[in-house]
Amino acid sequence: MRTVVITGGTRGIGGALADKLRRAGDRVVAIGSADADLTSVRQTSALADRLPDKIDVLVLAAGRFDQRRIVTGEGFEQTFAIYVLGRYLLAARLRPALERAQTPVILNLSGTGGIRAGRIHWDDLQLASGYTMFKATMQGARANDLLGAGYAAHNPNSPIRYVLYNPLFVDSGMHRQLRQPMRALVGAAAALFGSSTADAATLLAALLAEPPAARLTALRRGAPVPLTRPEFDQSAAARLYTVLAELTAAA
Ligand SMILES: NC(=O)c1ccc[n+]([C@@H]2O[C@H](COP(=O)([O-])OP(=O)(O)OC[C@H]3O[C@@H](n4cnc5c(N)ncnc54)[C@H](OP(=O)(O)O)[C@@H]3O)[C@@H](O)[C@H]2O)c1
Repeated sequence: MRTVVITGGTRGIGGALADKLRRAGDRVVAIGSADADLTSVRQTSALADRLPDKIDVLVLAAGRFDQRRIVTGEGFEQTFAIYVLGRYLLAARLRPALERAQTPVILNLSGTGGIRAGRIHWDDLQLASGYTMFKATMQGARANDLLGAGYAAHNPNSPIRYVLYNPLFVDSGMHRQLRQPMRALVGAAAALFGSSTADAATLLAALLAEPPAARLTALRRGAPVPLTRPEFDQSAAARLYTVLAELTAAA
């Protein structure tokens, strides 16, 4: 029986995947904000300490996006905190537990190979000036590409396979946190054009049944994203890992 930890496993895509894997016989630990506030470095570290000591699959699906710039109690912009810092920290802290498994996998749900937009704002990672939800989300997507790109280089002897996965537009209910009229517009677009969380979960469960053998894979739904793209630049990845190590150590 596999042990699968899913952050963001209480609703949306992560919730549907948790249900599916549980029904298939996996032991699933589903994490939502009631279990730990993953915008907090301290709570994320404490969570890692109480998770199982052998984990076959870590699914990083927690996300929260806001039209206003929200700063966490530790001084981080919320999107950056949950989407970048939190994922970096969990992948690092759970590495020993993952490496006790036969075929460990990190599955990171992100915007890889998506809209060709966004960049890392190296001089203003917390987006103190000119914040928009789009800018924060796109910076998060690019940063997650670098988290994947840098993982193998950072952990050269690890057997962990890292999969970046863009589920494309899914009617997950994520729009619930937006203000009107955007909530209604995005909700209507998701209902019309988005795939269901059940369909997204079916694809992810199939992927986890036979995970790619490579150390790093990036997929846009099922389609491979070439790792030669600039989003996976190794020197930028190393730079991000250094910055995140400093930020988490100081938090
Ligand atoms: N939906 C899409 O179209 C789409 C497209 C591309 C990529 N993605 C990516 O897929 C992932 C999942 O998206 P989704 O649409 O399924 O999201 P969702 O329906 O909004 O679910 C978000 C999940 O994150 C958890 N969460 C939020 N804030 C948290 C916090 N502070 N601490 C701990 N957990 C927290 C929520 O738990 P609670 O139970 O506490 O609310 C919930 O389980 C995201 O990373 C997103 O970037 C989604």
